[in-house]
Amino acid sequence: MSQIIIRGGGRLEGTLSVQGAKNSVLPILAATILHPGQTVLRGCPRLSDVEASIRILRHLGCKAGWEGEELVVDAGPMSRWDIPDHLMREMRSSVIFLGAILARFGWAELSYPGGCELGPRPIDLHLAVLRQLGARLQEEGGRLRCSADHMAGREIALSIPSVGATENAILAACGAEGETMLVNAAREPEIGDLQEFLCAMGCKVRGAGSSTICVAGRQPTRDAFHTVMPDRIVAATWLAAVAAAGGEVELERVSCRHLSTVTAALHEAGCRISGGEGRIALRSDGFLRAIAPVRTAPYPGFPTDAQAILMAALLRSRGATLFVENIFENRYRHVDELRRMGADISVADRVAVVTGVPRLCGAGVRCTDLRGGAALLVAGAAAEGETRIGDIHHIRRGYEDPVRDLRALGADIHLEE
Ligand code: UD1
Repeated sequence: MSQIIIRGGGRLEGTLSVQGAKNSVLPILAATILHPGQTVLRGCPRLSDVEASIRILRHLGCKAGWEGEELVVDAGPMSRWDIPDHLMREMRSSVIFLGAILARFGWAELSYPGGCELGPRPIDLHLAVLRQLGARLQEEGGRLRCSADHMAGREIALSIPSVGATENAILAACGAEGETMLVNAAREPEIGDLQEFLCAMGCKVRGAGSSTICVAGRQPTRDAFHTVMPDRIVAATWLAAVAAAGGEVELERVSCRHLSTVTAALHEAGCRISGGEGRIALRSDGFLRAIAPVRTAPYPGFPTDAQAILMAALLRSRGATLFVENIFENRYRHVDELRRMGADISVADRVAVVTGVPRLCGAGVRCTDLRGGAALLVAGAAAEGETRIGDIHHIRRGYEDPVRDLRALGADIHLEE
């Protein structure tokens, strides 16, 4: 079993270019099938979830593969509309293919998606928006059969601004007759990137970034080229690691605006942060202080994906910080692992209180999920002695090469296969 071994306690220093965003490229890969031609993606991160998407695309009959630094998809030869159970289970984002397959073929068959265990992650909202567009859904033996030969655009209000349901709705609406108006849509920046890609492909989508998104369906599509936006959660991870360990980092290829809640929290904790066009610099003496309660919320609120990462940065801070997880029911599974390193964290339901301790000690820990795994990297960088991180397949879902990146900052880290 592979492990990441990190000997923490030293200062981190250096410059890093941030990889492309996982949460942006996955819906974009699903969107490629709307066009029976070629898409070229640059800045696409090499992640296990991206490989899982490539496997789905190939199963559907598309050509998909790396050509140097670019990921090229040709959805011209797409010939199937079903996704087998083992491919659906590889990641949660597999469900975004549903809207895209329906838009292209008017028929789709798949099972329920897998993904990180963060508590119940239903897809009822995804199915509700597709039904409102005119899809008929039937469940049999764990398989979902959907037919939608006459999807028609209309006004659809989401009961909560789900990121995935918004993306599925946008993709399905591209294949519906007439205009769809999505109300209470998610405002996450990755939806803006999806919109930019779809527009490059000839689709007509506007409003991403606001809570009302309009899609004009059935537009002629064309070959497209797109550069994937930088990953704000990966950027937050490197900032948190340097904040916790102490040192100085400059991140390139980042959006300061997309990271503002995270950088505000790190600034409040005592870090010096400056930002420019596509760059963020952070300096920390490694002695942080507790901050005002951190409540996760849909964008532009504090991201749930950065909750574990910020928590790990504050483990040695002076005072106590309260976290409230408002998005997922069970997103504190990393806490037990952090406790093994000496962290003082109490959890009751959706609230966690982190009381800073003077020192963390390296320990044998396991990733419980993707961002929980990232939190172990952050804590390991600040802990004295050796931290051995197991179950790192979770981290590989969202981080291209964390050993390479932390080593570039001077961390004593290696991979043991
Ligand atoms: C996306 C992100 C994930 C992030 C999350 C919240 C991707 C690939 N993943 O996940 O990293 O943590 O947004 O920012 O982009 N819900 C329902 N029914 C549904 C759909 C969602 O009840 O049909 C609930 C979920 O259980 C959760 C909340 O809505 O409590 C938000 O989930 P959602 O925004 O859909 O998250 P994902 O799209 O799964």
